[in-house]
Amino acid sequence: MHSQAEWFAFCGDNTALKHLIIAIDGPVGSGKSTVARRVATLLGYIYIDTGAMYRSLALKALRSGVSIDAADKLAVLAGETRIDLRAQDGTQQVLLDGEDVTAAIRTPEVALAASKVAVVPDVRHVLVAEQRRAGQSGGVVMEGRDIGSVVFPDAKLKVFLTASPEIRAERRWREHQQKGDAVDLVRTLEEIHERDQRDSQRATSPLVRASDSVVIDSTAMDAEDVARLVVTLAKEKAG
Ligand code: DC
Repeated sequence: MHSQAEWFAFCGDNTALKHLIIAIDGPVGSGKSTVARRVATLLGYIYIDTGAMYRSLALKALRSGVSIDAADKLAVLAGETRIDLRAQDGTQQVLLDGEDVTAAIRTPEVALAASKVAVVPDVRHVLVAEQRRAGQSGGVVMEGRDIGSVVFPDAKLKVFLTASPEIRAERRWREHQQKGDAVDLVRTLEEIHERDQRDSQRATSPLVRASDSVVIDSTAMDAEDVARLVVTLAKEKAG
């Protein structure tokens, strides 16, 4: 195991390594956020959680009474909405039309609504354009479902992170427990299955593994080991 300083030394003198686009895709609970944040810290990259954008739009729809099933209205709403992702002390702050919604988008209700909002092609169109703008200069770790397949198909490093549904449900359940939210483990597993199905069966940009991605199964790995593996792969890609 290397110290943080050793890792910075390991990465520090490689210019190509400073400008990669690293795409991390995978299903809910696979550990994408924790790993992507850590990789961003180790490499000094910007971290972009694209799921937070779908969640923010879903929150706005729920609050403003726009039906989650009204595709045309959601597309208009997406065009009228400003979502900013800001780096803050190694985490990401999410601003919806200027309001800090970092915590508000993390409820099970918003998660479910986000998975419905995300099936609307015109919504994806708007948000994917934003994501491309945000990541085009490189030096970025972007996580989502379609980053390696649609948003940045030319990304130098594509990781598809996965884990068994049971482990993913347990991780999600623990997160809610830590926040003091009363959620049921069996129900969480059911929701994981529901969201997996919706994310992978939608017509536009379904969750698919890009053929040139590296698959990492994190069922028996902790996030730190996965993050360091990704950094090692990044270094290899940067030559
Ligand atoms: O990763 P997450 O749970 O915060 O994502 C919320 C929802 O948004 C989830 O159902 C999948 C969807 N999503 C997507 O379709 N494409 C992305 N690039 C990111 C998230």
